Amino acid sequence: MNSRIIDGKALSAQVRADVAKQVQALKQRGVTPGLAVVLVGDDPASQVYVRNKAAACEAAGMLSRVIPLGSDTPEGELLAVIDTLNQDPAIHGILVQLPLPGHIDTGLVIETISAAKDVDGFHVSNAGLLMTGRPLFRPCTPYGVMKMLESENVPLRGAEAVIVGASNIVGKPMAMLLLAAGATVTLCNSKTQDLGAQTRRADVLVVATGKPGIVRGDMIKPGAIVIDVGINRLPSGKLVGDVDFDSAAQVAAAITPVPGGVGPMTIAMLLVNTLEAAERTLNS
Ligand code: GUN
Repeated sequence: MNSRIIDGKALSAQVRADVAKQVQALKQRGVTPGLAVVLVGDDPASQVYVRNKAAACEAAGMLSRVIPLGSDTPEGELLAVIDTLNQDPAIHGILVQLPLPGHIDTGLVIETISAAKDVDGFHVSNAGLLMTGRPLFRPCTPYGVMKMLESENVPLRGAEAVIVGASNIVGKPMAMLLLAAGATVTLCNSKTQDLGAQTRRADVLVVATGKPGIVRGDMIKPGAIVIDVGINRLPSGKLVGDVDFDSAAQVAAAITPVPGGVGPMTIAMLLVNTLEAAERTLNS
């Protein structure tokens, strides 16, 4: 293996320690940042994510409130819970864990969250602000990727950045952040023909598809920076990313591991967004 490993665990610990310090300073000014996490249903993976988010919040000295709701909760009841949180001055950030059960309109739920408390950055008005270069909240996973690139001093101005996966949560906001940093961005999707021809041009390659092994070493330009956002559990129980790590690590200059890469950064940036939301209430 030739690649440098980008250690998301270590970087996230640094970010979280920095947030904890700023939380203490904010508390001195009479504000304790508060995050509410709403979990609908009993999806085991979502339960783990929510538990980790709440624990990180508390470790940083923030108020954490988890609101578990049954999988058959009517949509109107969920919207009423969000509305109460919108009005609650102790809550600065609201996150509804996705995916939601099929009978609930995810778009409507996200649009019901106050844009000023939308620490996921998924609300259309936050997506629009990001697109027009005036971001309020940057979605946590792409924000974490930008932090990793910054910590590695990866030059982005004029760089060729290729993103595989065009979701609202990762791919599209990632494209906006890389574009704002001066990269030339290519956004690939499931219909892209000859994916390798696109990925081989990338100085910075971000892969977020949920398909294990979709990018292999022979699809990577020698010396590229490879960011693997995927987290997939194989039938064997092993956790792997979307990038075939062993072959990619022969070619890339630097690569994120799975686990221990992008995943921990997502939670760290959620804390950053919650802190920023709380800080803004002092100036309003
Ligand atoms: N489910 C998977 N990733 C996310 C995320 O970043 N935010 C929320 N709310 N749900 C998710």
